[in-house]
Amino acid sequence: MKVVIAQDFNARKRADLLIVPYWEGPKEASKTAGPSDEVFALLDSGDFKGKQGETALLYPEGSRETRLLLLGLGKKGDSDPEKLRRAFSAAVKAAQAKKAKDLHLLFPDCDSVRGVFEGFFLTNYAYTELKGDSLKDCPSVLIETLTVFGLDKKFQKEIDRLLHTASLVNFVRDLVNGNADDVTPERFVKEAKSMETKGLKITILDRKRLEKEGMGLLLAVGQGARYEPCMILAEYKGAPKAKEHILLVGKGITFDSGGLCLKQPDNMLTMKSDMAGAATVLAAVKLAAAFGLKVNVTAVAPVAENAIGSRSYKLGDVYRSVSGKTVEILNTDAEGRLVLADAIAYGVKHLHPTSIVDLGTLTGAIVVALGEEISGFYSNSEAMAKDLQKAAASTGENIWRMPLHDYKESLRSEIADIANVGGRDAGSMKCALFIQEFTGGVPWAHIDMAGPGYISKCKHYNPTKGTGWGLRLLLDYLEMQGNQ
Ligand code: BES
Ligand code: MN
Ligand code: ZN
Repeated sequence: MKVVIAQDFNARKRADLLIVPYWEGPKEASKTAGPSDEVFALLDSGDFKGKQGETALLYPEGSRETRLLLLGLGKKGDSDPEKLRRAFSAAVKAAQAKKAKDLHLLFPDCDSVRGVFEGFFLTNYAYTELKGDSLKDCPSVLIETLTVFGLDKKFQKEIDRLLHTASLVNFVRDLVNGNADDVTPERFVKEAKSMETKGLKITILDRKRLEKEGMGLLLAVGQGARYEPCMILAEYKGAPKAKEHILLVGKGITFDSGGLCLKQPDNMLTMKSDMAGAATVLAAVKLAAAFGLKVNVTAVAPVAENAIGSRSYKLGDVYRSVSGKTVEILNTDAEGRLVLADAIAYGVKHLHPTSIVDLGTLTGAIVVALGEEISGFYSNSEAMAKDLQKAAASTGENIWRMPLHDYKESLRSEIADIANVGGRDAGSMKCALFIQEFTGGVPWAHIDMAGPGYISKCKHYNPTKGTGWGLRLLLDYLEMQGNQ
């Protein structure tokens, strides 16, 4: 998609649709923006009130746009970026419904350029990769060009950055939505390698190397699959003189069958999405490098398929982490914490991080607790928790802090240092407590995004299925650390 800021509204060319936003309330003052009698008539009728996300289509005669879309922004007094995102999401959907490709926008009098364009860009997505020949001739619904009027040219840079960010959100969505047999560990390697630039160093640890490093947990989880597990590192040093080094660790299970503790079909159905965390941390570091953020950050992505078969890792067996800790497997479906634990332990041992954020689709329990729109998070650092909450508030990606209560006892094993599960209750917290054992006391936060990573029904600017959740949050968080 292309976005340009233009100055002279009266000199504009023709387009498929013009968006004219209105705040809720008396419309007299804003009438001047609506360029025709039809608009006045509609406003006078009271049929369009300007409620947040309300839309009305008009076909004014003699206009340079085929259609005119009135868009409600809600009450100006209690507007915020999220409300703008949602309103502009509604505008994009209305435009897409008419297959409008070439859009004009009268920029509203508002405080959040970010809200407007994030709502716009994040909604302009469709996953069509797997559609067959019968749908081949369907015209794409994506908007191709947007010309903005009434906005200072100085915002072009911010718009370009938001567009770039949205393209990486879409990259994550595409990987999450892709077939598990296409989005394999090997595919992750290919995607990571193609990210490499001067400032962004990619390192691949293949199976042999994982063996040499002693990453027994990641190897165990991956040993049942036809695709070999691997670990990807993406390093960016944007503050070479600073001692801070942030580790972002993402769960990369390309398909989670549950292993020998096989999932029920209903629960397995969505498990191509179990690599969302890994895709997100790689994309976050790519953006940090692209935007030259003043942080040192390494993304670590342990990638494996949790498959069932004669070579699957075994229930009741004990496997050794790179940290030296041994783990008794009491449930092969609790594999995410195993690959994250090994990746974190590797990072602590070799990369000397000063803080760690791990993220992934870890437990059904967090979905029971918080639903599809909120991720649970855990942290042993008040400063990190505060910054993550601040980042979440500004990106509209909801997180809710959960306690790290002392339930560690439940993870006790008779034969190993720790067991990978400890009963059904407090399931998401026990996953966090397990992972914490591998952080070596480094300030750490753990985000369980099993709910929002992949959703059953489109909501505002989040499409059905892969959402790309968490990327903007991590980017905001990294930027915040760079400015401290
Ligand atoms: N990938 C799943 C968690 C999940 C569930 C993600 C629903 C997205 C939506 C994870 O590996 C898993 O299977 N967790 C188990 C843990 C249990 C065995 C302790 C679960 O939640 O049932
Ligand atoms: Mn699982
Ligand atoms: Zn999983």
